[in-house]
Amino acid sequence: MDLTIRLETPADHREAEEVTREAFWNHYSPGCNEHYLLHIMRGTASFVPELDLVAVTQDKIAGVSVCLTSYIDGDDGLRREVLSLGPIAVRPDLQRLGIGKRLIEHTRQAAAAAGYHAILLCGDPAYYSKVGFVPAERYGIRTAEDKYFAALHACPLYPGALDGAAGKYHEDAIYVVDAVKAREFDATFPHRERISGTPSQLRFIEVAAMQRKHEKP
Ligand SMILES: CC(C)(COP(=O)(O)OP(=O)(O)OC[C@H]1O[C@@H](n2cnc3c(N)ncnc32)[C@H](O)[C@@H]1OP(=O)(O)O)[C@@H](O)C(=O)NCCC(=O)NCCS
Repeated sequence: MDLTIRLETPADHREAEEVTREAFWNHYSPGCNEHYLLHIMRGTASFVPELDLVAVTQDKIAGVSVCLTSYIDGDDGLRREVLSLGPIAVRPDLQRLGIGKRLIEHTRQAAAAAGYHAILLCGDPAYYSKVGFVPAERYGIRTAEDKYFAALHACPLYPGALDGAAGKYHEDAIYVVDAVKAREFDATFPHRERISGTPSQLRFIEVAAMQRKHEKP
């Protein structure tokens, strides 16, 4: 496939949001909020423009990937800046062709070149274990609620980048989306049916339960 990965431009915004909506629709919950999240993220201080990527084939956007800066509150008292990757989305008819992997690889290289240390994200271990991420628990990294979580993944951008980084990972508050505003935004797109109980929603419930409290030594 002839695929180009490049920076998103303002002219791409709506199409990138459409692709994100298509990819996430009914995926984690009935409908989705990720296209609204993408829409509002671009204007925040923690958004990283040099990692705002689109994958393009035949002049159409096939995939989207963005990053925000976030941080780990270290058990050693230090605050370490990291990247949070997501949303990442690939058009449903083009999934499983390696586009997600290429977006992640491009992000990793550009992030390392820009001097970042590590990428963290929450997502299905079945996927992220295949694209270079390891459980964050390996580095002693927990959620902001101080739980080890199987969906929390880390990818150091150079050897040793997360050594000594044990602590609590804090995502940007923007990931907690205002559901009413997301619905209003969604109403600007063509109507789609919201379905509950899809296999991916059931898988999400299963993964979300894979948490356990951090016992202090
Ligand atoms: C998740 C997503 C971004 C992956 O993109 P993609 O282009 O389909 O994935 P790739 O083709 O690059 O897959 C890379 C590898 O992961 C595997 N894979 C892809 N999706 C997978 C999944 N859902 N579960 C398990 N493995 C998966 C592929 O088979 C491939 O394996 P291989 O290297 O052994 O051949 C895309 O499927 C998507 O947009 N999904 C809906 C939205 C979503 O879940 N986003 C992620 C939020 S955390």
